[in-house]
Amino acid sequence: MQRLDCVVLGAGAAGLMCAIEAARRGRSVLVIDHADKPAEKIRISGGGKCNFTHLKATPKNYISANPHFCISALKRFTPWDFLDRVVKRGIPYFEKSEGQLFCEDSAMDIIRMLLDDLKAAGGQLRLRTSVGAVEQTYDGFQLNTSGGPIVCEKLVVATGGLSIPKMGATGFAYELARQFGHDIVETRPALVPFTLGPDWQENLQGLSGLSVEARVSAGKTAFSDGFLVTHRGLSGPSVLQISSYWRPGEAVTIDLCPTVAAEKWLLDRKQSRGKQALVTAISELLPRRFAERWIEINGLPADAHVADLPNAALVKMAAAINRWSLTPMGTEGYRTAEVTAGGIDTTGLSSQTMESRFCPGLYFIGECVDVTGWLGGYNFQWAWASGWAAGQAV
Ligand code: FDA
Repeated sequence: MQRLDCVVLGAGAAGLMCAIEAARRGRSVLVIDHADKPAEKIRISGGGKCNFTHLKATPKNYISANPHFCISALKRFTPWDFLDRVVKRGIPYFEKSEGQLFCEDSAMDIIRMLLDDLKAAGGQLRLRTSVGAVEQTYDGFQLNTSGGPIVCEKLVVATGGLSIPKMGATGFAYELARQFGHDIVETRPALVPFTLGPDWQENLQGLSGLSVEARVSAGKTAFSDGFLVTHRGLSGPSVLQISSYWRPGEAVTIDLCPTVAAEKWLLDRKQSRGKQALVTAISELLPRRFAERWIEINGLPADAHVADLPNAALVKMAAAINRWSLTPMGTEGYRTAEVTAGGIDTTGLSSQTMESRFCPGLYFIGECVDVTGWLGGYNFQWAWASGWAAGQAV
């Protein structure tokens, strides 16, 4: 029977970071993953360039039933700490928007760095290994794995959330957490495109691929960023961001031209250049194809001139531009969601070490915990920070 100080389940961002830190402290560490390759989500992240952190990450960029839980870990292992490793390793990177850091060449650079660091620290990695029963013993845990039984003093669960099941995502962390008495904050797909009902799909037919800078809001939360019409619904960064806050049945409001108060603009235009075709005027605010469709679905004549239209029609048109309200049918679900919101209730975990309050020696880190970052490198920063925090303790 193999005996180790620490077993980490899941060779993703959080698990590898934790294992590196524990091994550097001289602990015997084994990382187990059922996949053929480690860190597959890092590989596909950021369009293959891994948006590995956000320099401005603060607890405000995270959604959790307890917004204070992430503070300690994020403070102790900061985006600058991770960047320091990237720089020392000589990985080329670039800043896409302010603070949002990506690999210049490939996400594989990050994976290779983590695997080399693990090896250098003396940690082991075992792939293609599934884990069955996990039992607490008088001095740790016994795991039944497809590679045989293993005993360890500390057990870290870093098996991620439910998003992208095709890549091996499982609910393993939640099941194990329940086994040891933890509550689970209801999980839901987040950072995910919206799907629309047949009416809106028909209205938007032919516009897929069109993008604008929009402000999308749900309840009191709003994000301004790219907005994209897809074949089945809506996507783009602003939509992905708001999807993490959206609840089924709730309406979202989209401002398709946030820099212009369209009502005043259209009424002014009626006075100053009333002979202008409506479509030409609206095309100054929206892409032409969008403008044509918006005129059509708002029931205005295609060949109207601005001055032909009563003020009420212009006001309605302006509202459709600045305050387009619709209720998504749903989301594309875990199939394409970048992350899983919700997860292991943080009230059962130490914010310093990520250790279970119900089962000493058991730790949960990364995406399986009820801490979900915005789009922009925040989720990896949580994985690094929570993995680092546990790595100091296990
Ligand atoms: P992660 O899911 O990475 O790792 C879990 C590991 O556990 C996997 O290797 C899996 O095989 C293994 N596992 C699961 N169940 C198991 C079981 N039962 N037994 C054994 N092993 C098991 N974030 C960001 O900050 N910047 C970005 O650019 C992106 N981009 C991005 C793109 C796409 C397409 C997706 C899907 C996601 C992102 N993300 C992201 C989110 C980011 O990938 C995610 O938050 C982290 O990978 C979470 O890290 P974890 O280590 O917690 O889980």
